[in-house]
Amino acid sequence: QSASNYIDPVNGFQFTGITDAETQVTYGVTFPPLATSGAQSTEFIGEVVAPVAAQWIGIALGGAMLQDLLLVAWPNAGSIVSSTRMASDYVQPTAYTGAATLTTLPETTINATHWKWVFRCQGCTSWTSSSGTTGSISVDGSGVLAWAYSSVGVDNPSDAESTFQEHTSFGFFGIDYSQAHTSNYQNYLE
Ligand code: HEM
Repeated sequence: QSASNYIDPVNGFQFTGITDAETQVTYGVTFPPLATSGAQSTEFIGEVVAPVAAQWIGIALGGAMLQDLLLVAWPNAGSIVSSTRMASDYVQPTAYTGAATLTTLPETTINATHWKWVFRCQGCTSWTSSSGTTGSISVDGSGVLAWAYSSVGVDNPSDAESTFQEHTSFGFFGIDYSQAHTSNYQNYLE
């Protein structure tokens, strides 16, 4: 599966992403306009639109579980609890200690059928693992994003660093990041 551009019909944001056919979860990301000179921005806006059967969702920014910057989120008491994580083995990912900041944006919604997490991820286009290896998103090239899904709730939903069990499903999609930029990016943050 590979990502294509879509407009979220409710918030109007343009994202690049997929809807997984099995779990019916949508994943989308969008980046600020490419800089024509100098360093690229290191942030993006993303969204996860999940049926309420999804107890937690993860996104692996480098397309694999290990040595990767992992975003994990679930709904709790009307809001979204989220964290950045890292794993060096196929066990419980722990808090990411590098400089990556997640902010839940006001377009986030939770209703009887779905939860939609719209977020800003700053300092998220490169990362360093606990063993010192590095990874990055090539904002003017292409890459692979991976997702993880669970139908089993986390152990302590009010705690962003909660433990949880292994995902019940995972998958991958290719993405052409060079096409995943929007000139409206700053407007989305206002
Ligand atoms: C793969 C365990 C959490 C993303 C795997 C595999 C295991 C595992 C055993 C290999 C499965 C296979 O090849 O069939 C766990 C456990 C977790 C956990 C025990 C938590 C307690 C996460 C989280 C994410 C994630 C939070 C994403 C945010 C992935 C992905 C794969 C995978 C993308 C497939 C690609 C790869 O092997 O790297 N996980 N996982 N996992 N996991 Fe996890």
